[in-house]
Amino acid sequence: MKISIYSPKGGCGKTPLAINFAVDKGYALATNESFDAFSGFFDDDLLLFVAADEEFPEIPSDIDVVFDLAGTMSKNDYSTLSAIQQSDVVIVPIWNNRLSILGGLRAIQSVHAIGRPVIVVATKLTAKTKKKGQNWIESEDYQCVCNAVSSLKDELGYMPAVLPLKYSEVFETVLGECVSVDVVASKSGLAKYTHRELLGQFKDLYQEVEKYG
Ligand SMILES: Nc1ncnc2c1ncn2[C@@H]1O[C@H](COP(=O)(O)OP(=O)(O)OP(=O)(O)O)[C@@H](O)[C@H]1O
Ligand SMILES: [Mg+2]
Repeated sequence: MKISIYSPKGGCGKTPLAINFAVDKGYALATNESFDAFSGFFDDDLLLFVAADEEFPEIPSDIDVVFDLAGTMSKNDYSTLSAIQQSDVVIVPIWNNRLSILGGLRAIQSVHAIGRPVIVVATKLTAKTKKKGQNWIESEDYQCVCNAVSSLKDELGYMPAVLPLKYSEVFETVLGECVSVDVVASKSGLAKYTHRELLGQFKDLYQEVEKYG
């Protein structure tokens, strides 16, 4: 399975998502980020770095890989294009912020233009009322992202799945220590309880991605 995680907008959660796939699924991690945030945390054999203007090599189909793609799909961005072209599915993370939505919609259109399917992850969802059993699909953040994506439905000819991923401080640990939420949650019963909603959301995301394998 090859998946790309792509949005031209920074801060939408590409790297946190990529780390979770790499850790939980054992996928190799490929990136065009100009700095190396992963060495020392992953086996070198599972890491692949290219410059933005360099193409990723064609990864053999028996190797599972997640591409964490910074940048755009502009003319000289061969890395992004070469990753998306070989991906079974492209995850576009979008949070409820004007520029993230604009960038996300643009990303969906450019991915569609080269014939690859899209899954949207609505990231950093917050709730106004912290009621127990919050249904994240009903949150304003999720609804805004979903409505924006559905504006592309006719153009795309399908409605991409939009999966919820709630806001959490745990993603700072994910980024800082290159661990997945599942690994953090496994540390204690309390941690497992604290992160139970996120764990469920990741499970749903992994299931959705499997449909494209
Ligand atoms: N549900 C969530 N999903 C993803 N990130 C989250 C979530 N909740 C909080 N965050 C925080 O949002 C930020 C998103 O991560 P990050 O800035 O690495 O995204 P990115 O898309 O990889 O950005 P860049 O393009 O700069 O590499 C992190 O600080 C993370 O802790
Ligand atoms: Mg990143």
